[in-house]
Amino acid sequence: MTLAYAHESTLAWRKANRDRAVPNRTITVRIKRCEGPGKPSRWESFSIKVSPNENVISVLQKVAANPVTAEGKPTTPVVWDSGCLEEVCGACTMVINGAVRQSCSCLIDEYAPAEGDTITLEPMSKFPVIRDLWVDRARLFHSLKRIKGWVPVDSTAALGPGPKEDQATQGTRYAISECMSCGCCLEACPQFTLEPDAGEWDSAFIGAHAIAQARLFNLHETGKALKGERLDELMGPGGVSDCGNAQNCVKVCPKGVPLTESIGAVGRSVTLHAIASFFRGR
Ligand code: SF4
Ligand code: SF4
Ligand code: FES
Repeated sequence: MTLAYAHESTLAWRKANRDRAVPNRTITVRIKRCEGPGKPSRWESFSIKVSPNENVISVLQKVAANPVTAEGKPTTPVVWDSGCLEEVCGACTMVINGAVRQSCSCLIDEYAPAEGDTITLEPMSKFPVIRDLWVDRARLFHSLKRIKGWVPVDSTAALGPGPKEDQATQGTRYAISECMSCGCCLEACPQFTLEPDAGEWDSAFIGAHAIAQARLFNLHETGKALKGERLDELMGPGGVSDCGNAQNCVKVCPKGVPLTESIGAVGRSVTLHAIASFFRGR
């Protein structure tokens, strides 16, 4: 599968397509269907009438309301995941015309602007399919547990103001904090593969999102209390050294998280941590 990236080179053709989109046209929506985990996949096509500014979710709702294929065969409603419908939760991520992205912010006008155009929807390939376009992103969240992606506090009582943070660090952390755990960076990463089962997650490649989040919490004045434990994890199997520097991740991230910059910064911290650990004798 060729992944087209949602970076600037695609923005021009998306706008051009929006400008030439034919109002009230009929398009074909081609969807990769799967009845459940481990079941074989099949393709089904649907003829759908679309109006200006519709998104992929509204088209899927039309399919759900009338689950009949383009050949006139009744079928089951298509299943997908979504939450916020404003590109914040990451749940609706899927592969659209070969490019991984959020379906709630994907305008049909940009991808199928002419009468009779086809838009293709597939589930992400790096996560197990639960059904149709809905995948299980549990491994993505497991990676965040591996790097202890939280600020440790030992009380629910008011502890007063926390330590001050300088503006430059705040700016760096803000950009990383925009991650919505969507999985685009993992879908595009050649080092992140579908194969590992849950028992092997702790040694499989952890993923760009988790490496960036380790940087986020290591830069936090209170969060850095766990810095050593995070770097220990990233020094081990599946850690930062497994990154092949293909840089696909940063190209597909819809939030512009500075992933490769963060991988570089964490890689340097891991090296210093390894040297310090060596001299400490552990
Ligand atoms: S880093 Fe970007 S692509 Fe990766 S999970 Fe976060 S928001 Fe999605
Ligand atoms: S830079 Fe590393 S994490 Fe990003 S896509 Fe390449 S191998 Fe994967
Ligand atoms: S539904 Fe939340 S990002 Fe699309």
